[in-house]
Amino acid sequence: MINIAIDGPAAAGKSTIAKKVAARLGYKYLDTGAMYRAITLYLHEHKETDLNELSELIDIEFSQEGKLFLNDRDVTDMIRESHITKQVSSVAALKEVRVFLVDLQRKISSKKGYVLDGRDIGSVVLPDAELKIFMTATPEVRAQRRLIEEHARGNNIELSVLIDEITERDTNDMTREISPLVQAEDAVLISTDALTIDEVTSKIVEFANEKVTGDQ
Ligand code: CDP
Ligand code: CDP
Repeated sequence: MINIAIDGPAAAGKSTIAKKVAARLGYKYLDTGAMYRAITLYLHEHKETDLNELSELIDIEFSQEGKLFLNDRDVTDMIRESHITKQVSSVAALKEVRVFLVDLQRKISSKKGYVLDGRDIGSVVLPDAELKIFMTATPEVRAQRRLIEEHARGNNIELSVLIDEITERDTNDMTREISPLVQAEDAVLISTDALTIDEVTSKIVEFANEKVTGDQ
């Protein structure tokens, strides 16, 4: 078994495709963005938190069904609310937060057979991952995808607002000092603008199978 790192900007298709790749290979999926969202929710609710105590204060667990529990509370839906999305890239820029989560992500994936998606997986969390993917699409295509999701949730938001939000978060993620979003040198670039979810999934499964056979 190998580990697969999938990085890229917001709404490129990382989590949807990472889950499918994991299912096809019989691997486990780790949504590292959800972990940053959970800390953002915690800090929103506990404004006086000493960031040096995160490891004593916070327990993050994923259930078999992919639900996220923050200190035993199911926060799967809460972490997707727009006030959390707006704050998450600032929280993700904090050194203490990154040190805590990177350590946890490395521990979880140490046994191999994981697909991780995020911003710094191939560059920082698992620089030795056997397969690294950098997934992108234009901001317009990505915002259009989010628009469909927001409308399905009953939120009547405009496309231009989502383009602005996505562009601002990308800029924050790419320009922060610690572990910015970058394409690792040895990552395969996949632009998903004109590809379906199944097409991208199959490509990655193919790369993974090549790596596994090559390593034997
Ligand atoms: O799903 P979406 O692309 O909206 O974002 P996400 O994967 O849930 O990640 C939310 C935010 O967490 C990102 O915008 C980054 O600021 C941060 N993040 C990070 O810094 N490093 C990671 N490995 C994953 C997420
Ligand atoms: O995890 P990330 O933020 O990169 O993206 P996502 O949440 O997996 O995907 C954002 C949306 O784009 C989802 O509704 C996907 O179904 C959709 N998508 C798509 O329509 N075509 C693709 N090739 C990839 C994703």
